[in-house]
Amino acid sequence: MGNRLERKIALVTGGSAGIGAECCKLFAREGAIVFAGDLKPLSYEAENVEYIRLDVTDTKNCEEVVSSIKNRHGKIDVLVNNAGITRDALIHKMTDELWDIVIDINLKGVFNMARLIGPLMMENGYGSIINISSVVGEFGNIGQTNYAATKMGVVGMAKTWAKEFARKGANVRCNAIAPGYVMTDILKTVPQDLLDQFAGLTMLGRLGEPEEIAKAALFLASDESSYVTGHLLSVNGGMRL
Ligand SMILES: NC(=O)c1ccc[n+]([C@@H]2O[C@H](COP(=O)([O-])OP(=O)(O)OC[C@H]3O[C@@H](n4cnc5c(N)ncnc54)[C@H](O)[C@@H]3O)[C@@H](O)[C@H]2O)c1
Repeated sequence: MGNRLERKIALVTGGSAGIGAECCKLFAREGAIVFAGDLKPLSYEAENVEYIRLDVTDTKNCEEVVSSIKNRHGKIDVLVNNAGITRDALIHKMTDELWDIVIDINLKGVFNMARLIGPLMMENGYGSIINISSVVGEFGNIGQTNYAATKMGVVGMAKTWAKEFARKGANVRCNAIAPGYVMTDILKTVPQDLLDQFAGLTMLGRLGEPEEIAKAALFLASDESSYVTGHLLSVNGGMRL
């Protein structure tokens, strides 16, 4: 238990499972009141983590969620844009459906949340936005044209908001984290021999734990990173894909 996020209000999209869940739990342990916005209910119970149904692709639903948190707490200090999916195929087999759904959730969903919460943070003069990118965005990966496009897209957006939301003296910082391979549901469809190969491509010789990404998110969410903005932080065990 620490106090690095004491009295802070945080919203983590895709907070019901995987990396988002670890962010929620860690932020709450550091004193924040945390909202886990997700399509599906929480896969865990934690003090000061509240589930809120959220579909990041549904603009109206995003507005409802943001105004309900604003009505209760008057502010949102931390936004982690974490909700994301993969729908892999070699490009010549990538259908419009596979392209559109990944763009909709991973890119439009991030845009939807920030266009509501960024201005709120500016008004409040304070905030930290963290976009979850990927090693796949940084280096590319066979079969992931759609995913790679979104994961570099969220880096461009974070760098843009670092400039846009810091206008008028607002202390609003925006950064991105590019995790390496971390064992969560998103990797369920990846064969074990490929996962072993990915582990072998890291300097540390292993995959990451969701908590290790959450710790990086805590750094960027808290004032420990008060002079860090517009930055992409790779958390990947030294992986070069
Ligand atoms: N696990 C990895 O190896 C890895 C590596 C790099 C980046 N990432 C990124 O980390 C983030 C979290 O992934 P994860 O590995 O924890 O996956 P996960 O599948 O365990 O969790 C993703 C969560 O997002 C939620 N979600 C999906 N669509 C949503 C929507 N429209 N609205 C709201 N919530 C929605 C899901 O219900 C789920 O709870 C993703 O953006 C992913 O791209 C993961």
